[in-house]
Amino acid sequence: MTQRADYQKLDVYIKINLGLNGQKLAHPNGHENRTAAMCRRFARHMGYDVELTKELFYAAALHDAGKVPIEVSILEKRDQLTPAEWLIIQSHPINAFNILMSLDLTDNSIPMGILHHHVNWDGSGYPHVVIQGADIPLIGRILHFIDVYDAMTHPRFYRSQALDAFTPKETIKQLVKEASKFDAELLAEFIIMLEK
Ligand SMILES: [Fe+2]
Ligand SMILES: [Fe+2]
Repeated sequence: MTQRADYQKLDVYIKINLGLNGQKLAHPNGHENRTAAMCRRFARHMGYDVELTKELFYAAALHDAGKVPIEVSILEKRDQLTPAEWLIIQSHPINAFNILMSLDLTDNSIPMGILHHHVNWDGSGYPHVVIQGADIPLIGRILHFIDVYDAMTHPRFYRSQALDAFTPKETIKQLVKEASKFDAELLAEFIIMLEK
């Protein structure tokens, strides 16, 4: 269980490195804040306890912290990324994990969740870890589709302009189409929550 002292360390980290409203983050359009709010809403929908809800909220707020050291020219590139640039982007879950592990938290649920937020249900995705299905930490499985949902419903810099943002309906359709990437039961609950 993530302890009070852990949250104090995370608060200091967020304040210094990410800025109060995430303005220093890779996505200064509020992606982290919205993802955190959506994760909290989902946790309430699922009836998760206060502890898990809080861990999920913090993990969402910090999930892309590993993009901070990555050059803006790569993060904001509008053209297709080169393979080398794509590898740099793919390093962001590990970057965040390493940053949070250096804070010496008593519980690793939040860093572990963040480490796995781009791992697909079948173990593909990144980072390349030998883990799949329900063995992927719950926080990572939830972050995975809520991250995609927010990214798709808001404009992103490194997508061609035509694909900038999808409507919630189109996004749900796309998530269903790619459902094999996600925890099917949790994704179904997420869609139920959105359509309520
Ligand atoms: Fe990410
Ligand atoms: Fe993200």
